[in-house]
Amino acid sequence: MKNKTIVFATSNYNKVKEVREMLIPLGFEVLSLSDLNLCVTHPEDALTFAGNAKIKAEEIAEKCSYPVLADDSGLMIDALEGFPGVHSARFMEGYPYEVKNKAILEMMEGKENRRAFFRTAMVYIDKEKGIEKTFEGVTEGVITTKLDPKPLHGFGYDPIFFSLDLNKTFGQATNEEKDSCSHRARALMKFVEFLKGRED
Ligand code: IMP
Repeated sequence: MKNKTIVFATSNYNKVKEVREMLIPLGFEVLSLSDLNLCVTHPEDALTFAGNAKIKAEEIAEKCSYPVLADDSGLMIDALEGFPGVHSARFMEGYPYEVKNKAILEMMEGKENRRAFFRTAMVYIDKEKGIEKTFEGVTEGVITTKLDPKPLHGFGYDPIFFSLDLNKTFGQATNEEKDSCSHRARALMKFVEFLKGRED
């Protein structure tokens, strides 16, 4: 693939890091919002991941001339009817993830069905080429029963998400392992395939 510069429209450093790890080897230059001194100001008040990703992508595409990729993602727990879902970032906002993860484990006490998914929707906008397209990625796991006292890697809800692909929590998975099966990796692969198919 020809060298391609895109903006990844998030201020979450961990997500930029993951996306760079996956896209740089494929010939992309990935700029973050802080590289361009931009930020998303519109409230992310849509009811779906795709709706929120579109809000971010459209705002940043208005503010710069590069193609923009934005994602919105979160954890969905079956026994909690999809909670925290689109509220994943805002749930107990301001508290460290150790406290948030503890709170989730308390909500899950006594629940037999511990099935959960990480989901992401990515919206890509290339104004110059008139492209707007959404890519989705899902990965399945179960919520652990205990807080991992020593998560080695990852961020957010990774320490309480036991991946069915990896047979370990995302908190114990190396970056390469997580990138082999994460929701973001799966959506990104669809995005890359789409761009390859359009190479002109
Ligand atoms: P967003 O930045 O509005 O998409 O919020 C996503 C939130 O979902 C993050 O702040 C995390 O709480 C959670 N999340 C999304 N992806 C992951 C992941 O790969 N691992 C752990 N938590 C995640």
